[in-house]
Amino acid sequence: MLTFGEYQTEKANFYFRILTEDDLAKAQQLVLTHYSTKEQLRVSLNVPRNQLNAIDSYRVKSYIKQNASVGAFESKTGRLVGVQMNKLVMQADGNETDKEMKQLDAKYPWRSPIRRLMTKLYRVDLFQFFETDRLFWMHMLTVHDEFTRLGLGQQLVINSEKLAKYIGYSITVTKPTSAYSTKLVKNLNYSFTFSLDVQEYVDDVTGENPFRAMTYPHNILSLCHRRLLD
Ligand SMILES: CC(C)(COP(=O)(O)OP(=O)(O)OC[C@H]1O[C@@H](n2cnc3c(N)ncnc32)[C@H](O)[C@@H]1OP(=O)(O)O)[C@@H](O)C(=O)NCCC(=O)NCCS
Repeated sequence: MLTFGEYQTEKANFYFRILTEDDLAKAQQLVLTHYSTKEQLRVSLNVPRNQLNAIDSYRVKSYIKQNASVGAFESKTGRLVGVQMNKLVMQADGNETDKEMKQLDAKYPWRSPIRRLMTKLYRVDLFQFFETDRLFWMHMLTVHDEFTRLGLGQQLVINSEKLAKYIGYSITVTKPTSAYSTKLVKNLNYSFTFSLDVQEYVDDVTGENPFRAMTYPHNILSLCHRRLLD
């Protein structure tokens, strides 16, 4: 059986477990408060708060359903204080975006330039590139403001890797969009597979750079991966 163990710090102790649908409301609240308003791509586009909430609430719900996301809980209070939302992507499932996400994409057109930027970051078929039929995507790493800089973010990634391995995935992939999450994956020896300087980016459709507000240290966008060895 998979166990994650306790994590002790000077400030508090924490335990980790897979998030279930019972955690949905709390996970959404944590993400909306401590991630959505800070995610640099959307910050640079000045996306209205209610639109961020709609998209991120849906993302959290769809990831939790896959039973592969990890939560950090304060041991004393049982309070959810951090999440690593993970998405299991199988080559056999194709590239189809689900119906609800398609509707949200249509409703909120600011998502299209972000999607185009992501496609430009890596122009290859990732399954072929990594020679795998499945990828464990780590998204929306979030730690409650009160508990940052204790190593919880790192622990959430380490525990997600543990889970990935346990369920038969040998590669984890992530796109850190903050200087801290970039540092975090660097510390864990992730490979920076593809990188793009958003200051030099030009959107093929509009001929403009909608992300020019993303300045140092947020200007480098990367796709990072790690092979999980036996
Ligand atoms: C990014 C985030 C998840 C980091 O969580 P965390 O629990 O503080 O991470 P860790 O304690 O494991 O620290 C990771 C590294 O970042 C550094 N770091 C984190 N916050 C920092 C801060 N405010 N100032 C300077 N360095 C910081 C840590 O020092 C550590 O590096 P080090 O070990 O070399 O010193 C958290 O700040 C957060 O939720 N931010 C808002 C949402 C976000 O941007 N998520 C990532 C999007 S991809």
